[in-house]
Amino acid sequence: MLSSHMQWRYATKKFDPSAKVSEAELQELLLNVQLAPTSYGLQPFKVIDVRTPELRAQIREAAIGQPQITEGSHLLVFAVCTDLDSAAVAQYIDLAAITRGLSRETLAPRETHIQGAVNKLLPSERILWSQKQAYLAMGVLVSAAAQMQIDICPMEGFDRTQVDRILGLTEQGLASTVFAVIGHRAADDPAAGLAKVRKSADQLFLTL
Ligand SMILES: Cc1cc2nc3c(=O)[nH]c(=O)nc-3n(C[C@H](O)[C@H](O)[C@H](O)COP(=O)(O)O)c2cc1C
Repeated sequence: MLSSHMQWRYATKKFDPSAKVSEAELQELLLNVQLAPTSYGLQPFKVIDVRTPELRAQIREAAIGQPQITEGSHLLVFAVCTDLDSAAVAQYIDLAAITRGLSRETLAPRETHIQGAVNKLLPSERILWSQKQAYLAMGVLVSAAAQMQIDICPMEGFDRTQVDRILGLTEQGLASTVFAVIGHRAADDPAAGLAKVRKSADQLFLTL
């Protein structure tokens, strides 16, 4: 049952710093992020694998000292593109044309449609919309990690402005949105044995 993987996983509070995720496992996880669906397929975010210990130490400070940031095997920072504009849509259409062997003319109506949807949003709404796409990809990552018996802690308990400064994201047209720390749980993580607190199916699901 797929749900047994989701029962196994939990938001890991204490990682074993010596238990590393292999490069092959990391690439498999990232492939799942790459394959995650996004609205119109625009993928308006980047995922930054922060490997520099000094940067991770600074980010930990900007994340109310949460130890996962430095103790997990990898820190992945999901950062949204702040410049989602006509050029970004055109780039996507270029890629779609090449990938599917289509002429750009064939894709012109789709480009017009996507441009219309993006252009009607205020800059702040575009960022919010991009964040939704990043969170969805995070959800895919959480599920993939569980299936691979890799632990993960999704995190948004950090100061975005500070993290953007530490990683120099603003200059690159990016804004930090959510983190995923991946690794393996410490044998004595007290959070590992906690019962899941979840609404009942009756509370959560409706049939109309
Ligand atoms: C978007 C998001 C942000 C979260 N941020 C943090 C965080 O900053 N620190 C933390 O320890 N847990 C964080 N969590 C973990 C949640 O508290 C946890 O997923 C929730 O309580 C359900 O528990 P479980 O995942 O262990 O089943 C976050 C989870 C999500 C999905």
